[in-house]
Amino acid sequence: MVMDMAIQTISTTAFDDQNPGTSGLRKKVKVFQKPNYVENFIQSIFNSVGDVSGKLFILGGDGRFFNKEVIQKILKMAAANKVGHIKVGLNGILSTPAASHLIRKYKAFGGIILSASHNPGGPSGDFGIKYNISNGGPAPEKVTKAIFESSKNITSYKIEDCGDIDIAKLGKTQIGSMVVEVIDPVVDYANLMEELFDFDLIRKAIAGGLTFRFDALNAVTGPYAHEIFEKRLGMKKGTVVNGTPLPDFGGRHPDPNLVHAHDLYELMMSEDGPDLGAASDGDGDRNMIVGWKRFVTPSDSLAILAANAKLVKGYRNGIAGIARSMPTSAAADYVAKKLGLNIYETPTGWKFFGNLLDAGKVTFCGEESFGTGSNHVREKDGLWAILFWLNLLAATGKSVSEIVEQHWQLFGRSYYTRHDYEEVDQTAAKALIEDLRSRLGKLAGTDVAGLTIAKADDFSYHDPIDGSVSEHQGIRIFFEGGGRIVYRLSGTGTAGATVRIYMEHYVADPLKQDDNTQEALAALIVAADELVDLKKKLGRDAPSVIT
Ligand code: G1P
Ligand code: ZN
Repeated sequence: MVMDMAIQTISTTAFDDQNPGTSGLRKKVKVFQKPNYVENFIQSIFNSVGDVSGKLFILGGDGRFFNKEVIQKILKMAAANKVGHIKVGLNGILSTPAASHLIRKYKAFGGIILSASHNPGGPSGDFGIKYNISNGGPAPEKVTKAIFESSKNITSYKIEDCGDIDIAKLGKTQIGSMVVEVIDPVVDYANLMEELFDFDLIRKAIAGGLTFRFDALNAVTGPYAHEIFEKRLGMKKGTVVNGTPLPDFGGRHPDPNLVHAHDLYELMMSEDGPDLGAASDGDGDRNMIVGWKRFVTPSDSLAILAANAKLVKGYRNGIAGIARSMPTSAAADYVAKKLGLNIYETPTGWKFFGNLLDAGKVTFCGEESFGTGSNHVREKDGLWAILFWLNLLAATGKSVSEIVEQHWQLFGRSYYTRHDYEEVDQTAAKALIEDLRSRLGKLAGTDVAGLTIAKADDFSYHDPIDGSVSEHQGIRIFFEGGGRIVYRLSGTGTAGATVRIYMEHYVADPLKQDDNTQEALAALIVAADELVDLKKKLGRDAPSVIT
């Protein structure tokens, strides 16, 4: 038996708010900085996920403020909890998809990813801790619930009494009986991308004049993008902008959408914009795709990738099916129907895709919130989606606009928009949803803003693989003629509440596919307001973000 005299057991008092949300535990940095806050949550993970002794874990984060301090705490606590081996990204860096890949590749027991995704960073920004299981994916609800239960009753945690580990250089060191291995965060991931996509073909297209711009938004994908786009694909220096991860993301929201990646959007709409523009978020799992003068909605992107999968090396033999989150548009459904693929509708959050991917029911998954991915990992993957589009442009020789328009002609167009009301009063937001929920039974057949409601429900998901049921996953209002509105409260915000309204309308006839999304959805936008007296109840004139 190895006696480890340095293990300390420290008494602590439980917090009552360590309940993981849509994507891990996410709070203001200031909350995580409270004494024992991080320690309690990490110990709750070790208490809930089974016997960790001697096991391998993957550890890293998006490099935001407080990342390094938390990495040190986790290393010391893992050693004290008898973990056998931790692979940690150099300087504590790992993108979320890269971490997922490492868990799978090295058959780790699990992984801890430090990220608040697209939320702002810095001392007054957000921080987050996410636990991933051995399939590489986010812990399912049964695990996150167990962690939360443990956190409510915790009375002590274990930690090694030792100095900080040098994570700024590659190689192995030891804490107690645990090996700490500092690894290159990029190489395994970049190799995986080379297996899936035809790098030769993309290189040829670039040599032939295909132009590209990638905005890393000062977040984690910078080093990955420099390696993949500039080094391995030979694109010119400067293709990747904002490519150095900063602890506060340069004061910006590292969120790849029309509002926060505005510079890129402007460039893409300008006369001399490149053929393809793309951005990713804080931890590298989101993507925004913009062609020259053509924004591609994430819902359309998922459908287009699925429809064209056979053109891409890693999916040449076709795909089994597609899963999309419920608020995502039905564009993928039309593809699945026409091509005879499986299609699943899951609640918001990537954790619901894991079972379907593991069971081989689906190959591609996507969410309207700029998330797309495949069975190569168990997270959404920003650079994967971007490389897919590059591969598609190279394989077809078409422009983004041509690909999108031809897709609509073939499969119909799902007009789609999401309106977010951020940081509104929590009580008012909850009351709004509760009120609507209480009226659900009486809505069918009634009119709102000149539209007739065909059906209304509160989405609940029955997982076809493990039989688990997740209720209250968003309120759906279906209209006669095919329109849909979804109302849900965000599970990732850290201040007040965020109300999300998703609106969608399908037009099959190419001659009626008028081009302005907000205009095409105008009637639904009015109905969404009238049905719940939205603006008045939230005390807002307009949404904070429209995507
Ligand atoms: C948001 C998105 C959701 C995504 C999650 C994590 O969650 O809407 O699709 O999975 O971020 O990136 P929400 O804040 O809506 O709960
Ligand atoms: Zn993210």
